[in-house]
Amino acid sequence: MHLIETRDLCYVYPGNVTALHHLDFVAPRNARIAVIGANGAGKSTLFKCFNGIFTPTSGQVLIRGEPITRENLREVRKFVGLVFQNPDDQIFSPTVEQDVAFGPMNLGLDEETVHHRVHEALQLVGIEDLAHRVPHHLSGGEKKRVAIAGIIAMEPEVLVLDEPTAGLDPRGVRELIDVINNLSRTFGMTVIFSTHDVSVIPEVADYLYVMAKGRFVAQGTVEEVFSQPELLASVRLDVPVLPRLIRSLIDRGVPLRMAYTYAKAEEALLEAYGKKP
Ligand SMILES: Nc1ncnc2c1ncn2[C@@H]1O[C@H](COP(=O)(O)OP(=O)(O)OP(=O)(O)O)[C@@H](O)[C@H]1O
Ligand SMILES: [Mg+2]
Repeated sequence: MHLIETRDLCYVYPGNVTALHHLDFVAPRNARIAVIGANGAGKSTLFKCFNGIFTPTSGQVLIRGEPITRENLREVRKFVGLVFQNPDDQIFSPTVEQDVAFGPMNLGLDEETVHHRVHEALQLVGIEDLAHRVPHHLSGGEKKRVAIAGIIAMEPEVLVLDEPTAGLDPRGVRELIDVINNLSRTFGMTVIFSTHDVSVIPEVADYLYVMAKGRFVAQGTVEEVFSQPELLASVRLDVPVLPRLIRSLIDRGVPLRMAYTYAKAEEALLEAYGKKP
């Protein structure tokens, strides 16, 4: 059974704007899934269907095989943690610490457990020093981390991150990749995220969905999706620069193994030059 599944999911906004067209999506346990697509493709709308913020206009969203209902909505929200694209939609407490504590407190956990979870989450996203600051006076990237910490502290089984790297500095992006991989590896969390930064995908995703105008136009492993540059270009997306370079060298006769991540590309190049990785 899949943790999240959509069947023939359609979503129409008031004013007759169809944002999602007949989407079939699955998130198996422990997967790291990226959803990519141009502005307006429907990523945020899809994510809001995953935890019952939006109710499908038609079709189904199944959580552990069960449709979302009024009765199980609370359970669903505990199971699927969604970090909004815009942190201002999520942050409202007077201090960072209180804000991150809000979710776990609502789960009915005791004070000590909440305190422990809050500090663990703050540490994980690297903002322990901001614990006593006023969230609304933080920078964009700092707020983003607060929002992520707030959801991580609830320890959902599925973590859904809408554009988690947007607005983070280069080190912040690297740290976030490590956080996602750590949550997946150590805690077996399932992570679904959207991003416009295709270069991070090979480092942090097992499977990709490519969206355009509310439809999935491609899906597959990193290798499968990034081996279709024309299709990606037709929906305003690019293959990351590293695999693009390696592919171009291979096509011009350089004896290399195809590689998508930095580590694999380095290995392939060293090997091609007869050096030990
Ligand atoms: N509240 C709304 N009312 C009407 N239409 C909306 C509303 N919110 C979004 N839309 C439309 O739904 C479509 C999908 O929007 P959505 O925000 O899901 O895209 P997205 O892929 O997340 O884009 P971005 O990369 O810019 O975040 C767009 O055409 C958008 O204009
Ligand atoms: Mg969006």
